[in-house]
Amino acid sequence: MKNILNFAVVGVGGIGQGHVSGVIKAPNANLVAVCDPKGEEIWEYRKKYFPKELIPDVPLFTDYEEMLQSVELDAVVLSTPDVMHLPMAVRAFELGIDVLCEKPLTLTREEALEMMNAAKQYGRRFFVGQICRFSPAFQKAKELLDSGIIGDVFCVESQYVHGCHEDLPAENWRKNPPRHATSCGGCHAIDLVRYMIGDPEEVFAYGNRLCRTDWEVEDCSETLMKFSGGAIGRVMTSLGNIYKYSMKTLIFGTKGTIEANNVEDTVLVYTRDENKVISESEYKVDINSHNALEEIQDMCEAILFGKKVCHEGIEGVKTVCVCAAAIASIASGKPEKPDYPVIEE
Ligand SMILES: NC(=O)c1ccc[n+]([C@@H]2O[C@H](COP(=O)([O-])OP(=O)(O)OC[C@H]3O[C@@H](n4cnc5c(N)ncnc54)[C@H](O)[C@@H]3O)[C@@H](O)[C@H]2O)c1
Repeated sequence: MKNILNFAVVGVGGIGQGHVSGVIKAPNANLVAVCDPKGEEIWEYRKKYFPKELIPDVPLFTDYEEMLQSVELDAVVLSTPDVMHLPMAVRAFELGIDVLCEKPLTLTREEALEMMNAAKQYGRRFFVGQICRFSPAFQKAKELLDSGIIGDVFCVESQYVHGCHEDLPAENWRKNPPRHATSCGGCHAIDLVRYMIGDPEEVFAYGNRLCRTDWEVEDCSETLMKFSGGAIGRVMTSLGNIYKYSMKTLIFGTKGTIEANNVEDTVLVYTRDENKVISESEYKVDINSHNALEEIQDMCEAILFGKKVCHEGIEGVKTVCVCAAAIASIASGKPEKPDYPVIEE
């Protein structure tokens, strides 16, 4: 029985570097190629700054199609600009290759559905790089939540605060088309809230562009959410702030509250005893906000051994649906219902 998958990483820029390391380290993955038109240049950098065991001795392709025709692959990691995800994923599916696709899967709901349908048509698996699901702080928060320690959730608050893209040149892919804060990094916090407490049935969002006046769409947004069980939630996202990169998340339950942040080593739980005294418990965790190793290893175990994992492609599709509803709400000034796909069993 096969127990190792042959991978290529496509796009070895910022986040792709992490995927290369993740594939090298994952026990059930084997890196056989990388692909990036700027590969030579990027590789020189990697050779200078990375330990030897993380400098792969594999062919570097500058053309995706040429790589697909030249190497026997089981899976590709797509860490290319988001507008390339759909055509690259569909081409991989056609050739019988499974995909781990970076977030956002696509910029629109329609394209996300197209990716999902193509995977189904060709009988392939796809997974989404919503990396916060693998952050130790959020994994611990999820475990505590599922243990029932805070009772039933009535409210959740998260944020994606990242003062990034300050000096991007006009030709940078992130500016064309300009990314709404919500679907840029904001999709991390929206996805995290979905992961923690489920799919919002309605959202209402405001956005502004007071910080990043060079950005053509809002660089800050607040999205309110309503969930079917009655819980409510809020996600704030900002690309132009002066603050530390942070995803502080508070989950309020009827019996307690969980506080977690992917850049902190402590998850806090507040509970109250029979004398109404509130106490704070600390759970120590590693800080690893880009846990590519576990993300890749889980994908391998899902494909090879049927493991149930948290980053199946459908999760990425649903997160795109919520982001699309939030962006639509900013434009319409009205609440919007995310239009989730109907999944046939
Ligand atoms: N999960 C996360 O936390 C996270 C963080 C940052 C970015 N991302 C996502 O990862 C993706 C890449 O973002 P990035 O910040 O690494 O961008 P980047 O610009 O640093 O890297 C993208 C790379 O893709 C390469 N590329 C362009 N066209 C290509 C092609 N046809 N074939 C192969 N490679 C090609 C570029 O040369 C570049 O090296 C985006 O979808 C982004 O949203 C995810």
